[in-house]
Amino acid sequence: MAIKQPAARPANPRFSSGPCAKPPTHDLAKLADAPLGRSHRAAVGKAKLLAAIEETREILGVPADYKIGIVPASDTGAYEMAMWSLLGERPAQMVAWESFGAGWVTDVVKQLKIEATTHTADYGEIVDMTALNYDNDVCFTWNGTTSGVRMPNGDAIPADRKGLTLCDATSAAFAMDLPWDKLDVTTFSWQKVLGGEAAHGMLILSPRAVERLESYTPAWPLPKIFRLTKGGKLIEGIFKGETINTPSMLAVEDYLFATDWARSVGGLKGLIARADANTAAITQFVENNDWIEFLATDPATRSNTSVCLKFTDDRITDGPAFAKAIAKRLADENVALDVGAYRDAPAGLRIWCGGTIETADVEAMLPWLAYAFDAEINA
Ligand SMILES: Cc1ncc(COP(=O)(O)O)c(C=O)c1O
Repeated sequence: MAIKQPAARPANPRFSSGPCAKPPTHDLAKLADAPLGRSHRAAVGKAKLLAAIEETREILGVPADYKIGIVPASDTGAYEMAMWSLLGERPAQMVAWESFGAGWVTDVVKQLKIEATTHTADYGEIVDMTALNYDNDVCFTWNGTTSGVRMPNGDAIPADRKGLTLCDATSAAFAMDLPWDKLDVTTFSWQKVLGGEAAHGMLILSPRAVERLESYTPAWPLPKIFRLTKGGKLIEGIFKGETINTPSMLAVEDYLFATDWARSVGGLKGLIARADANTAAITQFVENNDWIEFLATDPATRSNTSVCLKFTDDRITDGPAFAKAIAKRLADENVALDVGAYRDAPAGLRIWCGGTIETADVEAMLPWLAYAFDAEINA
């Protein structure tokens, strides 16, 4: 018998993995304090930028001796800037288990052309992080947004490493515990877990990363937009809100709104709990339905933000077409938007579960997934 159309819809059908849903209390009218039309170098602008840095430090628990900067071009800008400024002093270990990590490998191997060893794993799997040479610099992604596989913890990274660790944490920051003592460079974008705007990236540097910046000059030229040092010294202003070029003060205000909201739900602990609860609702659904599975094979590495699912029913003959049709049905019903798997990833669905998503919305959406599956498999 065909499954009946569910009666209730999620209040918010936005489950995109980036830009991610705004905090539930978001309203453009609440950004009225943005100093629009004012210089970002005026006192009011500088104070807002510094507040964005300090709020980040407090909520994420970033150590006082780590530097936090707001940089151009979102997470990509922050991570590229770090790679181009720091790598080349010693060989690199490049780690990838999905699309974004693979992009960083390409940069290092084909663009920077430095000596590098590449470690990869298929979608759904993770690289054995204990098998790396930490005397080299290590580039990796904490949460693979396109495979739904994340680092379980930082235990594999030695405290006494000689190389630097460069971590793309864009879909992890504000949803997972990050072991700061194991991370020399950490980057993320405002558009991810807190549902901020794209445009700016955050670059977090350990004292060892700063030491490298001040003692090593790459063999290649660096454009102004990547330059973190002047005359062999760190440009300290970048880490106090004196951005390299002009930021969007509207995006800054929006980020400050998001950090305020994050505090209101209990800060990092509260955000993690919300993401975990959202993911638990999906886990329950997967356990109750034998036609759907997580792409992540090991529960210990399953993401609590970008939850990736695959259809396992034997009757499906064209996997990609089937998954696309399900995503379309969910979008057409306005119950789940932007939930198709990433273009380079295996066919399936990707449902964002970060803290800005309400668990009630995940719970209201899942019966529609069962309904859409039933309708499509019988079509
Ligand atoms: C792991 C990872 N790295 C990098 C990016 C690129 O981020 P942005 O577009 O904010 O630069 C993304 C975006 O989804 C991502 O998930």
